[in-house]
Amino acid sequence: MDSVARKGMQTGLPALMAPRVVKGKSSIGRSLLGFLLLLATSSTLYLSSRLFSFQDRGVVVPLDAESLLAKCRSLHVKPGPHVDFHSRARSDRYQPGTKAVYIRNATIWSGNSNGKEVLHGDVFLDDGLIKATGDVPNELLANIGDVVVVDAQGAWLTPGIVDLHSHLGGSTPALRGSDDDNSYNGPITPWLRRLDGLNTHDLGYESSISGGVTTSLVLPGSLNAIGGQGLVMKLRPTKERSPTSMLLEPYLGFNGTDHSPEAARHWGHMKHACGENPKYYRDTRMDSVWLTRKAYDTARSIKVAQDDYCEKALSGDWSSLRSRQFPDSLQWQPLIDVLRGKIKVQTHCYEATDIDNFVRLSNEFQFEVAAFHHAHEAWLIPDVLRRAYGKKPPALAIFSTFARYKREAYLHSEFAPRVLADEGFDVVMKSDHSAIPSRNLLAEAAMAHYWGLPENIALASVISTPARILGLDHRIGFIREGYDADVVLWDSHPLSLGATPTQVIIDGILQISHPHTVVKPASHQQAPSAPNWDRETAQALEYNGLPPLEPRHRDQSVIFTNVSHFWSPTAESVIDLLAESAGANSQPSGIVIVQGGRVVCFGRNSSCDVYHSLPDAETISLQGGAIQPALVAYGTGLGLTEIAYEASTSDGYITDPLDSQPPLFGPGGYIAKAVDGLQFGTRDALLAYRAGVTVSVTSPSHQSWLSGLSTAFSLGAPHKLDRGAVVSDVVAVHVSLSHGDSEPSVSTKIGALRRLLTQEVKGDVGEWFQKVANGSLPLIINVGSADIIATLVSLKKEVETKTGTPFTLTIAGATEAHLVADELAEARIGVIVTPTRSYPYTWDERRTLPGPPMSADSLIGYLVKRGITVGVGPRGIGALGHPGVPEMANSRARNLRFDIGEAMLDSGVLSKEAALALATVNLEKLLGLDYHGQQHDLVATANGGLLGYEGKVLAVISPRRELVDVFSTDDVVAPVK
Ligand SMILES: *[C@@H]1O[C@H](CO)[C@@H](O)[C@H](O)[C@H]1NC(C)=O
Ligand SMILES: *[C@@H]1O[C@H](CO)[C@@H](O)[C@H](O)[C@H]1NC(C)=O
Ligand SMILES: *[C@@H]1O[C@H](CO)[C@@H](O)[C@H](O)[C@H]1NC(C)=O
Repeated sequence: MDSVARKGMQTGLPALMAPRVVKGKSSIGRSLLGFLLLLATSSTLYLSSRLFSFQDRGVVVPLDAESLLAKCRSLHVKPGPHVDFHSRARSDRYQPGTKAVYIRNATIWSGNSNGKEVLHGDVFLDDGLIKATGDVPNELLANIGDVVVVDAQGAWLTPGIVDLHSHLGGSTPALRGSDDDNSYNGPITPWLRRLDGLNTHDLGYESSISGGVTTSLVLPGSLNAIGGQGLVMKLRPTKERSPTSMLLEPYLGFNGTDHSPEAARHWGHMKHACGENPKYYRDTRMDSVWLTRKAYDTARSIKVAQDDYCEKALSGDWSSLRSRQFPDSLQWQPLIDVLRGKIKVQTHCYEATDIDNFVRLSNEFQFEVAAFHHAHEAWLIPDVLRRAYGKKPPALAIFSTFARYKREAYLHSEFAPRVLADEGFDVVMKSDHSAIPSRNLLAEAAMAHYWGLPENIALASVISTPARILGLDHRIGFIREGYDADVVLWDSHPLSLGATPTQVIIDGILQISHPHTVVKPASHQQAPSAPNWDRETAQALEYNGLPPLEPRHRDQSVIFTNVSHFWSPTAESVIDLLAESAGANSQPSGIVIVQGGRVVCFGRNSSCDVYHSLPDAETISLQGGAIQPALVAYGTGLGLTEIAYEASTSDGYITDPLDSQPPLFGPGGYIAKAVDGLQFGTRDALLAYRAGVTVSVTSPSHQSWLSGLSTAFSLGAPHKLDRGAVVSDVVAVHVSLSHGDSEPSVSTKIGALRRLLTQEVKGDVGEWFQKVANGSLPLIINVGSADIIATLVSLKKEVETKTGTPFTLTIAGATEAHLVADELAEARIGVIVTPTRSYPYTWDERRTLPGPPMSADSLIGYLVKRGITVGVGPRGIGALGHPGVPEMANSRARNLRFDIGEAMLDSGVLSKEAALALATVNLEKLLGLDYHGQQHDLVATANGGLLGYEGKVLAVISPRRELVDVFSTDDVVAPVK
């Protein structure tokens, strides 16, 4: 035995070897039983001989030959469902005790026929599977005991949403203890598995499910050039409460069964990253690509050795293998499996350079790229994409409008999804949850549709297409018999604004125990008819992604005809000036006449006849559209930062007066004014302007407690000295308060505020706070935690008691404000909610009021009902621990119109006028924004209003700047189908 063991060790072969003398290659035993018999009969020989009994014309077969052969055969198993997969009677994910579900009378988007099939009828779910669609046979129902019957009343039913790029199971709320997304141990880590760091306590699961997401690909972060293996999971809670039990078709080895033939059929997913992010390791692009090539070269060498070994083993040539071991490599096998086509490549890659590099790499090492993720420049380089190795070009997993936060994302276009689809590529809209909380992933598809992606492709882009890219379209992504019972019932057409699930079913299990619903307008039961963007799309391509965004200025007369609504802001609210004369639908269309940027006449039909003879008047038909107040952006870095990740494009950071030792200009220091750092004409500013946001209130960096003095400026102005460019030099004093962001403590900062508001403090800081205390300037405090808000309510009372003067305090962020709503109302403290749909990004914001379907009230609706003045703004999400980065919200300002439209629908109580007020008069009141007697800017939209996916912004009317800025006047209406 000793010699056996020693020999085994020496050769690196498994110690337990049985010598067996055979005559030729063909007589190799095929069954384990045969080997055992052989072992029994030859035991004497075994015990008395050397390990390798190599005799003339004989071959020695290792005892574990059978498992080696199985391993060799498994190398060539291609992932994919077993032949009898579709005759399965029960899902492997079936949870015992789950009742059958019978959904009656649904409008079913099945995913079939390239996303064009819509069925009317029933769906029957049992055993975790879809058992029947359309007409459910009676026999199927007859034998079932307990059935949950859902009357859909004609509502839309779709397969569950599939998110191809998520970081769920990460850190929501952001806590250091569950930050396991990226490895910091080196740029090449294909051996890591995201599964090993999955957080089952992430608050995002429930939130994502409430948006209809049922399956997600969870990927490692992107700091590593090869970051490791992702996992596909269903989001529902399981009885077992483990990450393993959430997996969907886990890749080989994920659950401890390495060579089960079934496990070998399941796809793996390898995260790669190009470009900027791997620079974390001080690698240039050249270094990253080399390191990746080196890694693939290592994998390729082992693969060649494996193939060589297996070729000999499978042909029975054991004699040449007698001193060789199967070239196993626990570390490199995942990359070898990429080369074997068993692991799909999911690559974070933004720019032409990076995509081109990666396409070269795919050809050099001959692996397919399943998808380029982010891929902000992909739309500009279709030929490069087509050159990628393999039969099918990569899919593109992209955002709709979230862009320009880094240089790599600068050339993104809202038309990218449509251009890529026109070129025949698979388009997937993705969340990068929680960059965009995946609860809102469907809205990404809806916005892509608004910007020109056809309806069938837009729906498929978050359902069937990602299911196919994951290699899971044999069971998810479609409503078909035998597929997983993952379906979502919607309160409106899924591409309509604010579409919300009324129920989400995963593996046949109802996920929302008491869904709250709001009634949507009847028109929302059809897909919105998106405007025509053909001209803009062609221009975006013509200008290589940087089409001119400046409008055409008109200081002469403009006559807007065929106007349905003229919503005008007053000091307190927004009213429809055409409504009074309208009455019936048959009323003639309205007219609004503008001279030098001022409305001089409006009315119906002939009311403004006298103006029709105006010389040089330009007539713009709004085709039933509207004129409404232009929106105000709050909470972004517009005007101070062009590209969030590029310091050289930014005003920079603010020193914390509590930290500065000693203060440069003596006690009291100084305070930064945003107006002194303003930059005009940034792309996000112009894009927001083109979307009806004409003014931004921006404060210096939010990242220190005292961020400084905000300014209000025009997003359309070319520079600061232009007429009307600066609306108000100083708007308010801004402070941020959150737990643990940095030293000093919250209590220290509250103490400092108390001192500044109640005592005379010398210096710049003190002087500005005295203006707050005497009521002449508002104090805006960015805060999420109800506990800190409560402290601020007391502080306000305390200060006012002491000074005898009321002052204006506004809470911004305000995620937990509902918990102290009555107290806020009583203290007359208004609230700016950012973002409009709450998400528990940080510990301070963990107690959200999410809105339907999880709660009856949305945060905004709840606060409004309590009489609180509510404004809104977007929210910039940065890296972990820095959730409120205003610069990251710059590209989101353009979606403000959709945010307030969605907030209106989520609330169930807001009128259109009240919704418009959220981003106009309410916000102005809360910020103390004074137009100094000037009228508001107005926005003219064709085909619909600002609050929906139909209206197209044609022009901005600016009395302050004494002009009309015209963006577009032709090809307005031509619904995308
Ligand atoms: C299905 O629902 C629609 C809308 O509520 C209703 O008009 C129709 O009668 C229903 N059909 C059946 C078969 O129940
Ligand atoms: C692992 O997954 C395979 C394939 O899905 C399955 O057959 C096996 O039972 C699983 N094993 C464990 C321990 O969960
Ligand atoms: C107004 O616009 C609507 C919608 O495009 C159109 O149907 C209607 O004919 C237009 N009316 C006039 C008077 O141009």
